[in-house]
Amino acid sequence: MKIIVTGGAGFIGSNFIFHMLKKYPDYRIICLDCLTYAGNLSTLASVMDAPNFRFVKESITDRKAVFALFEEEHPDMVVNFAAESHVDRSIEDPEVFLDTNIKGTAVLMDACRKYNIRRYHQVSTDEVYGDLPLDRPDLFFTEETPIHTSSPYSSSKAAADLLVLAYHRTYGLPVTISRCSNNYGPYHFPEKLIPLMIANALNDKPLPVYGKGENVRDWLYVEDHCKAIDLIIHKGREGEVYNIGGHNEMKNIDIVKIICRELGKPESLITYVTDRKGHDMRYAIDPTKIFQELGWLPETKFADGIKKTIRWYLDNREWWETILSGEYQDYYEKMYARRI
Ligand code: NAD
Ligand code: TYD
Repeated sequence: MKIIVTGGAGFIGSNFIFHMLKKYPDYRIICLDCLTYAGNLSTLASVMDAPNFRFVKESITDRKAVFALFEEEHPDMVVNFAAESHVDRSIEDPEVFLDTNIKGTAVLMDACRKYNIRRYHQVSTDEVYGDLPLDRPDLFFTEETPIHTSSPYSSSKAAADLLVLAYHRTYGLPVTISRCSNNYGPYHFPEKLIPLMIANALNDKPLPVYGKGENVRDWLYVEDHCKAIDLIIHKGREGEVYNIGGHNEMKNIDIVKIICRELGKPESLITYVTDRKGHDMRYAIDPTKIFQELGWLPETKFADGIKKTIRWYLDNREWWETILSGEYQDYYEKMYARRI
């Protein structure tokens, strides 16, 4: 089995590559990633020299490069993680979100059509469903919940999902889509809530909580997400959408307080700042379908997952410190200068 994993130098994609190489040592994994600010090749250092792994630095929006890679590799499957993923950046500058998240998805699927791929899997997000009110804890997102987006990020992901389903219906492309809740764990880029708070707390810097900190997210340990995608690409039904979530709803402020407690830092570091524009109140996934069809359940409890995550950030200070200093962007040049 040959799988192209796009966006594999980012947070979830890299964790997925580690999971797949460990579980399926006879698979060949090709990571296609153009290394935006969110891509960090040093994350993949431990697998770069593995004989069944290849890294290709190209953009999924580059039709010529994508088709050339398919011509060379003739992959069996594509798992598309590549995306602009940060809501706040999408509010500042939406355009690149449209290019990568929508057009890039179309380019990949066009290549999949030409090369008769066995499965195209789109990694999507629960944010395509919009948000739920705080006073209705009985409501959850199911796969039938209407698409109703709030940010340029979620709109671009929703547009991509619609294109994926259209390619299935129109061209018979064998697709699946997963819509997951917020992930946390190792290699999470320190612009997102949990790693940002850990890094700031360790540096005794203010912990910027948007609004009142009452927004709720349904947190899932990244390994559990990777296991769910593994199940979907092997056993999921073509043309189907699967929600992935942890039944683990937490208020932002409670997460920040847990991080302070675990690191022995004072809550006085918490600073309430101006709210995000259009800020979604609550995300909550109903994962019944993936449980009933594929037997998936989250394995890591938040209490354990957050401890493991904090431990990882303590043990891997260099990884996130080189990101904060900007040095990680030289890593590609260093790696490849050494290889020539
Ligand atoms: P990330 O921002 O950490 O990583 C994105 C990766 O994609 C980076 O390595 C980047 O270099 C690469 N990339 C960006 N544009 C590219 C392009 N044009 N061509 C090739 N590579 C490109 O993102 P993440 O948090 O790992 O998210 C991965 C996927 O999962 C995204 O599609 C996101 O929408 C989805 N998702 C994320 C979460 C979450 O909590 N992080 C939850 C649900 C769904
Ligand atoms: P984030 O990690 O950006 O994920 P998403 O917006 O995709 O859910 O943010 C998670 C929550 O944390 C969201 O409600 C916004 C909030 N937040 C803060 O309060 N402060 C911050 O510095 C960041 C980055 C996020």
